Amino acid sequence: MIAARGSTIVGLGRAVPNKVLTNADLARMVDTTEEWIISRTGIRERRIAPDGIATSDLAYEAAVEALGDSGMAAADLDLIIVGTATPDMVFPATACLLQDRLGAKKAGAFDASAACTSWVYGCAMAHGYIAAGLAENVLVVGAETLSRITNWKDRSTCVLFGDSAAAVVLRPAEPGQGFLSFILGSDGSGGPLLNLPAGGSRLPASFETVEREQHFIHMNGREVYKFAVRCIPRAIKAAAERAGLSLDEVSCFIPHQANIRIIDAAAERLGQPREKFFINVERYGNTSSASVPVALYEAYEQGRISPGDLIILLAFGGGLTWGAAALRWTKLPRGTL
Ligand code: ACO
Repeated sequence: MIAARGSTIVGLGRAVPNKVLTNADLARMVDTTEEWIISRTGIRERRIAPDGIATSDLAYEAAVEALGDSGMAAADLDLIIVGTATPDMVFPATACLLQDRLGAKKAGAFDASAACTSWVYGCAMAHGYIAAGLAENVLVVGAETLSRITNWKDRSTCVLFGDSAAAVVLRPAEPGQGFLSFILGSDGSGGPLLNLPAGGSRLPASFETVEREQHFIHMNGREVYKFAVRCIPRAIKAAAERAGLSLDEVSCFIPHQANIRIIDAAAERLGQPREKFFINVERYGNTSSASVPVALYEAYEQGRISPGDLIILLAFGGGLTWGAAALRWTKLPRGTL
């Protein structure tokens, strides 16, 4: 069945904290070197939210910019989806905190939880609501304060992550414009490779869980790396195929920014030039669900994508989960009448 209508991005916003944590700073905190971090990950620095700033604060800043960019008011929104692995609290949803602060009086609001893939999952849900006629205007945010769940004594994880947020506003579009396809995948058998063990119903918070440092990210980096290198080319190819595109028609790939080596390996496996991959991992590290939308925002700001361009977004992460989307860009550069 061909959907009667599609959806497209009409507004973008971003929030990156001012505080920069460099590799040199980390080399003073744990047993690592600037050289190790840059050569193994491609990351030079990451942003850290100041004390007292939570995920919903970054989400709010990004959402206000995205709404302004779309020319819409918060009161126009029908739905707010926040993708995050670091909600302000387990409940209420961070999306509800955002709804209240924005004054989005008629919007439903919920969080999408698929670790680093949450924002792409959120876009797929928003697209589905719009295509089905259940919503006209949807705000989808990817927002994280990973610094709050990072073990700053664990050199194998603390060099990787950072804080940020980005938001998009989706509106109905003609089929063939905006989002053309989505691929969503999961493999729960890989859950233990990347998790935050305590604080849920399996291991409720206790003195022991805190003592065992189970409220921090735990990761088997090597296995997650192998998973990522396998899954990215497959998901990108599947998204292109579902949209009826060849990879050569795609002008820009916007992948999850976890590790430059993962992106390089994926580009090679796909036989696509590296210049077609938008990369900003050196400045932000891995910001989980904020990673792809921050990269999309910057690709747009830098004029890397123009109306008519074919783009593929790709995310992967805990769950394990992955998600890819093909889209035909429709938004004119900022400042264009
Ligand atoms: N500085 C110095 N040495 C280190 C550091 C560090 N910061 N971290 C680890 N090492 C050491 C290890 O202890 C190990 O030493 P050993 O051989 O004596 O045991 C050695 O370096 C090699 O460790 P590896 O884990 O094999 O290093 P690798 O080259 O695989 O790089 C990395 C590690 C960067 C974590 C890589 O595996 C990776 O990027 N994995 C994917 C991570 C990822 O993408 N995660 C997020 C996805 S989902 C989400 O965003 C939540």
